[in-house]
Order: sequence, then structure tokens, then C-alpha cells
Amino acid sequence: MELVRAGVLVVGATGAIGGQAAGQLAESGIATALAGRDRDRLAERASALDGRPWRTFEAYDLDGCARLAPWAKAALGGLDGLVVAIGVAGFGSATEVSDASAEHLFTVNALAPMAVVRGALGVLSPGGVVAVVTGEIVDRPARGMADYAAAKTALATWLGVAGREARRARLEVMDVRMPHLDTSFAAHPAVGTAPPFGPGADPVHAVREHLVHPLLNALSS
Ligand SMILES: NC(=O)c1ccc[n+]([C@@H]2O[C@H](COP(=O)([O-])OP(=O)(O)OC[C@H]3O[C@@H](n4cnc5c(N)ncnc54)[C@H](OP(=O)(O)O)[C@@H]3O)[C@@H](O)[C@H]2O)c1
Repeated sequence: MELVRAGVLVVGATGAIGGQAAGQLAESGIATALAGRDRDRLAERASALDGRPWRTFEAYDLDGCARLAPWAKAALGGLDGLVVAIGVAGFGSATEVSDASAEHLFTVNALAPMAVVRGALGVLSPGGVVAVVTGEIVDRPARGMADYAAAKTALATWLGVAGREARRARLEVMDVRMPHLDTSFAAHPAVGTAPPFGPGADPVHAVREHLVHPLLNALSS
């Protein structure tokens, strides 16, 4: 069955989740284009996946974020799907986190993903699907993570409304509430220090079950 005619853009392909998603999509025979911040890691991953097209971006450049999907459409000859898996953790009580850190957390976790999706909704093929990683924190905001939780919740709310609006154009928007995973995500926060977390889920399995399978199912329906 031909699920994807053109291809899927993975934004955050340099990260643990985005890298897994890109690899699993490629294993399923899907043409992918990769975007990330770290040029060397991105080039390496694109090369390991048989030379996929790639492009760097920085979350603070919102215009650049919005240009990713049009670039991928041109590079792949069309765009059926988008995965967004960018973010940065932040720890500290609501009174401790500075305005500058709050701005950073909201830019990377909310404004940049929104700009990427906004740029994609106008160029995806009819029947196209967007999958954006938010997190279980949206359902269970924890103490010591008010700013990170608020940014992810803002993104989740925006995705919900954008998804309802996009149905008219036969597009689907998925909010992927990923559980806590066994990755180093919490070990390099924008602010503060991670509290001890319990063991996380296996990223390979979780990315397949929560992201790649639902995305492929949505693209085939
Ligand atoms: N890991 C978990 O337990 C977990 C659970 C639920 C939700 N999530 C969410 O899933 C997403 C990815 O998590 P992960 O585990 O894959 O973390 P990760 O390995 O740290 O990846 C984070 C990604 O975000 C990108 N990024 C960070 N700051 C950026 C900036 N200023 N501009 C552009 N890109 C930036 C990184 O780019 P570079 O590497 O190129 O700098 C990387 O691609 C995050 O949104 C996170 O909140 C993670």
C-alpha cells in the first residue's frame, strides 16, 4: 500500500526522539528530509540514512522555522507529513526561574514548534499529517517545572485548535504526549537541575508506538 507519495520532514532530527523517528521512518521506506540545530550531528545522521536532504535552523529564528516545510516540500518533491520533536527542559520553582529563562523555554518549546507547523499547514498535501511531541507533562504538570509545563501546555492548546481548523483542508494535527523516556533530555536543561526521575521508557519502543505508527496509520487513512 502506498502510504506516503512524497515524504516526511523531521524537525529535531538531531535529538533522541527526532533521530529515532527519522530512522524508523526511513526503515519503513519513507523519504525523509531532516532539520536540526547542530550542523555536524545533522549532516552525520542524514548521511547515515543514505544522504537525506538536511537543513539547519535555530528556534529563535521563527521566520526560519516557518521556512522549513516549504524547503522540505521543494527538496522532496512534495510533503505528506511533518514530525516536530524539538524542546529544552527547565527546572526551578515558579519564583526562581528568570524571565530570560522563561522566554527561552517558551521560544523553544512553544513558539518555534508553532512557527514550524504554521509554515507546514499551507504546503502539506491534502491528507497530510503533522505530529508534534509535547509530553505527558501537559496532563500532569509537576512542581519545579512550571515554565516548561506551561510552554508545552500552550503548544498543546494551540495544536488542538490548529488541528480543528486544519480539518477543512483535510489535514490532521497530532499532539504526541510522549511519556518520560530513558534519554538524556533532562540532563541538559536551559535552567536549573533535574530532580531524580524514575526510570524512563525505552525510546525505540516509545517512538514507534506513540509517534511513528500513529503517523503512518493517519497517513494511510
Ligand atoms: N525525552 C523525554 O523523556 C521526553 C518526554 C516527553 C516529551 N519530550 C519532548 O520531546 C522533545 C525531544 O526530546 P528528546 O528526548 O529528543 O531531547 P533531545 O535529545 O535533547 O533533543 C532536543 C531537540 O531539540 C533541539 N533544540 C533544542 N534547542 C534548540 C534551539 N534553540 N533551536 C533549535 N533546536 C533546538 C535539539 O537540537 P540540537 O541537538 O541540534 O541542538 C534537538 O534536536 C522535546 O520537546 C521534549 O520536551 C521528551
